[in-house]
Amino acid sequence: MASAFDLRRAQPPAASAEAYRECQAFVEERLARQAYRPDGMVAGMVREVAQGRWSREDMVANIVFMLFAGQETVVDALGNAIVALDRFPEQRALLERGAVDWSSAAAELLRYGASVQYAVARIAAQDIDLGDVRIAAGEAVVPVLGSGNRDDAVFADGDRLDLTRPPTMSMTFGTGLHVCLGQHVARIEIAAMIEALFTRAPGWRLDAANAERRASMSFHGMATAPLILNPAA
Ligand code: HEM
Repeated sequence: MASAFDLRRAQPPAASAEAYRECQAFVEERLARQAYRPDGMVAGMVREVAQGRWSREDMVANIVFMLFAGQETVVDALGNAIVALDRFPEQRALLERGAVDWSSAAAELLRYGASVQYAVARIAAQDIDLGDVRIAAGEAVVPVLGSGNRDDAVFADGDRLDLTRPPTMSMTFGTGLHVCLGQHVARIEIAAMIEALFTRAPGWRLDAANAERRASMSFHGMATAPLILNPAA
């Protein structure tokens, strides 16, 4: 499904459509059994459809998107965090000594290893001058979030992981009307997973020789990032 979002000329690979159908079947099966929280978001969507304010097809597509948006991104962010900590051992040591708290570390790891590199294109409603560039009304702009996150004018020495960086809003979750719906839960998830990694598997090592990046422009993550949990054993 991730590769369906890539900027490209050709149609998405058949496996993307197959993955979507599998996810859709899962959602349909849960909907049929009413296996969702009665006070949750899906229940709200079901009510909108029942009252004729929304199409069922859109509802299912949105639930599938939500599952995808909430899973792929977090898995990728964790993989990127592991690789970043392996690349900057002195930063990793700060976590091992308890010199940085988990949520500050998560914020910096999310900046450094943004899993969504491109936001969805925006169309300028009117002429805008951005720095030296004029964007004319009607033109599309694709914000490159991963690049903004490394902007030295905002983040000193932006290509460096620095877990002690003072908190600054990064572009990892986008901004504006379509800012990530799950950003708060995602921050908590990354902080909790790093904490679990360091407290339950202290001394973990990345098996860097067997780690592999996923080939995707939009979703920056690892195809695999194997860990050695007991390096001394
Ligand atoms: C590290 C994890 C995550 C990252 C990096 C991430 C990133 C993003 C970004 C950059 C956008 C905005 C795209 C744009 O402005 O065009 C977005 C939108 C969205 N995200 Fe996330 N996300 C993450 C986790 C989650 C989670 C956990 C959920 C759900 C539980 C979620 C649900 C959504 C939804 C529904 C949207 C669309 C919002 C809209 O268009 O109004 N995301 N995400």
